[in-house]
Amino acid sequence: MARIAIIPGDGVGVEVMKQAVRLLDVLSGEEGLALGWDEWDLGADRYLRTGTTLTEEEFTELSENYDAILLGALGDPRVPSNIHARDILLGLRFRLDLYVNYRPCRLLHPDLSPLRHGAERPMDLHIFRENTEGSYGGLGGNLREGTPQELAIQEDVTTAMGVERIVRRAFEFARERELGSVTLVDKANAMPHSGRLWRRVFREIAEEFPELESEMQYVDAMAMDLIRNPDRHEVLVTSNLFGDILSDEGAALTGGMGLAPSANLNPGVHALFEPVHGSAPDIAGRGIANPMAAARCVGLLMGYLGRGDLERAIDEVVTAAIAEGVTTPDLGGTRSTGDVGARLADGLAELLTTHP
Ligand code: NAD
Ligand code: IPM
Ligand code: MN
Repeated sequence: MARIAIIPGDGVGVEVMKQAVRLLDVLSGEEGLALGWDEWDLGADRYLRTGTTLTEEEFTELSENYDAILLGALGDPRVPSNIHARDILLGLRFRLDLYVNYRPCRLLHPDLSPLRHGAERPMDLHIFRENTEGSYGGLGGNLREGTPQELAIQEDVTTAMGVERIVRRAFEFARERELGSVTLVDKANAMPHSGRLWRRVFREIAEEFPELESEMQYVDAMAMDLIRNPDRHEVLVTSNLFGDILSDEGAALTGGMGLAPSANLNPGVHALFEPVHGSAPDIAGRGIANPMAAARCVGLLMGYLGRGDLERAIDEVVTAAIAEGVTTPDLGGTRSTGDVGARLADGLAELLTTHP
């Protein structure tokens, strides 16, 4: 049995995870797929109530007793320091060494593209974001804090090991999917030290995959090119920070934050699935958050458990709901989070009985 820890977290994270659980309920009836899950009360409420973000015992249990974690979102205006999100979300990414942050950006339906030419040139992009180094390590500090002479150091760390493993994963993925190219995205012109390391390792690994084109592009140019040529790139591999930014852009080009899923992986060891979006305090509590990104995270989880058929089934049901206009306001619809969640769960149940 695959055991899943569900961490709804904060804001719309809680609302969309309820709908994800509906899909798990449907899927747990599938033959050959035994699923069990527990909900974890971690997030801003718990932190404000108890002063605790994540205890050592909880971390150990999450790391040892589960096959995967499904997380909603963390972030709450009542916790301006964001310490709970750093401890829980970044804590899990770093401490479980989830070095692959895989963020697919695929245009599921032509109406979703904000670009004039987007429907004719549909994006199907796979972003591999390094997830354990770069600007996210928290190294640095402040001196003379609060004074006009304040100094802040925010280190950006790159290791050969860190680059090697994410670049290799990106190439392996491209090979498995029989794609044509992998593009390294960096800023080697302004950040030459880490740039040299990324480029050297990238070139070395590219040689092991002679059937794949390998390209390198600066991040500013890539940000532009994704808009001008949404269908040109297939696989991007990049640092933690650039991957964060480009994956929001990729989400916006394929229907918005309400649709974009992600997988944080330490391949073969640990996995955490979460929507790319955050807790959306601007719409939280109104029942209008789009649950499709969370639903597609369940899809990525199914793929991870070896059930690519169920991952495709979830995307099919999401696409059908979009085509019918059963959507939340971010996609132009008038439906609630619960209505869309019900449509997805019913659609999936029907699909599984008609095409078992
Ligand atoms: P956000 O992703 O929460 O929201 C950005 C915009 O997208 C908002 O306009 C929001 O309404 C919209 N949006 C997001 N999810 C949506 C959904 N499911 N349906 C419809 N619209 C949706 O980003 P933000 O406002 O920069 O951050 C809010 C909080 O979330 C912050 O505390 C941030 O640190 C945190 N955050 C957490 C995660 C995570 O847990 N993985 C990711 C991003 C941001
Ligand atoms: C994401 C989020 C996080 C990140 C924040 C909440 C720290 O934006 O998952 O994309 O920057 O990785
Ligand atoms: Mn982000």
